[in-house]
Amino acid sequence: MRMVDLINKKRLGEKLTKAEIDFIIKGYCDESIPDYQMSAFLMAVCFQGLDEEELYYLTEAMIHSGEIIDLSSIRGIKVDKHSTGGVGDKTSLVLGPLVASCNAKVAKMSGRGLGHTGGTLDKLESIPGFTIEVSIEDFHRQVEEIGLAIVGQNQDLVVADKKMYALRDVTGTVESIGLIASSIMSKKLASGADTILLDVKYGKGAFMKNVSDAEKLARCMIKIGQSFNKNTKAMISNMNEPLGNAIGNSLEVIEAIQCLKGQGPKDLLELCLNAGSHMLVQAKLATTIEEGKETLLKQIENGQALNKLKEMVAYQHGDTSYIDDPQKFPLAPYKIAVLSPKSGFVQDMDSLVLGEVCMMLGGGRQTKADTIDHGVGLVLNKKIGDAVELGEPLLYIYSNHKDILELENMVIKSYVISLKKTKRPILIEQVI
Ligand code: URA
Repeated sequence: MRMVDLINKKRLGEKLTKAEIDFIIKGYCDESIPDYQMSAFLMAVCFQGLDEEELYYLTEAMIHSGEIIDLSSIRGIKVDKHSTGGVGDKTSLVLGPLVASCNAKVAKMSGRGLGHTGGTLDKLESIPGFTIEVSIEDFHRQVEEIGLAIVGQNQDLVVADKKMYALRDVTGTVESIGLIASSIMSKKLASGADTILLDVKYGKGAFMKNVSDAEKLARCMIKIGQSFNKNTKAMISNMNEPLGNAIGNSLEVIEAIQCLKGQGPKDLLELCLNAGSHMLVQAKLATTIEEGKETLLKQIENGQALNKLKEMVAYQHGDTSYIDDPQKFPLAPYKIAVLSPKSGFVQDMDSLVLGEVCMMLGGGRQTKADTIDHGVGLVLNKKIGDAVELGEPLLYIYSNHKDILELENMVIKSYVISLKKTKRPILIEQVI
């Protein structure tokens, strides 16, 4: 087989066989296929797409390019969730403990943030001492004993994706539904959970800019999951405005703790109750979504959900006194209110810009090598649909510097305020 023939075949829109796809993935991993040929192939896929069978073969080849985690020795149904990423998305910090407190086994391998989207691992690392580097044996033991572990992705998992993603990032080939779906699903399937709940985000702060593309991606990932016999569901949720109010690592952990105490923002709670109840049904711990929601609310009220977070933090060597007293989290020294330039209603906002502001404050990474500052970020005071007076704070910026006029201007421009009354946006478009 010659790679150039396979590139041409895909460029002409023809279907590749399993043997051909295996050849490409193996060859790319053992470096017999160079980056320039792989880039040409990926670009052909961006234009021509992949059909259902090709997607299955691609995902299968990617899974087998690295280690596959076997969680079958852990009793019970192991549940996992994945968000396609957004701004202020601290769902895993709430959902993991919440669902695990209902006896679901939550075995989650997470990623770091890059660019404007934050990563669960970075957020968890704002808890002093917390380690995300856990061996596979300890990961097993932790899930078996306390039902919850959120750890860094094993370095040997889906080796092909690491190489391919880095290449896609610099060759304009990230935005292909088939490539995104196989990238995400190969990692989820190799991580060993029995059920997968996907939170596919759409809007300004997300990969998918509209509902229809998000739905296509969700359906594509569900098909892949089902063809590997995994119970896979997807929520389509809105990322035109950030989720909750906090953006930034420590600030998001604080907000997650508030949510687990029943004092969090409404939208974050709504998303967690919806996602959590689907996960409970997938784990056969609830028969209906309504029953699932009731159970979850009970676990918040009786303190068990917050206790579960503390158990996980303790198991992963974090200082639990920060969970008891979130005021201990060190925040950046300057809290700067960004004031509304006029009165009216918030019509729209640009969560992508707010994510970028957080990154520019030092709360995110522009390159993988960057270190991040856990104490900086933003806390929204106004979201879409809210009435606002001239001079009222739109949000607060936590910064290490006093003079951040450029960032303040970015925030002001990211808000659209007019006299027209506006409804709150729908948060969850559908569950598939
Ligand atoms: N997240 C992934 O893991 N892969 C993609 O291709 C896009 C987002």
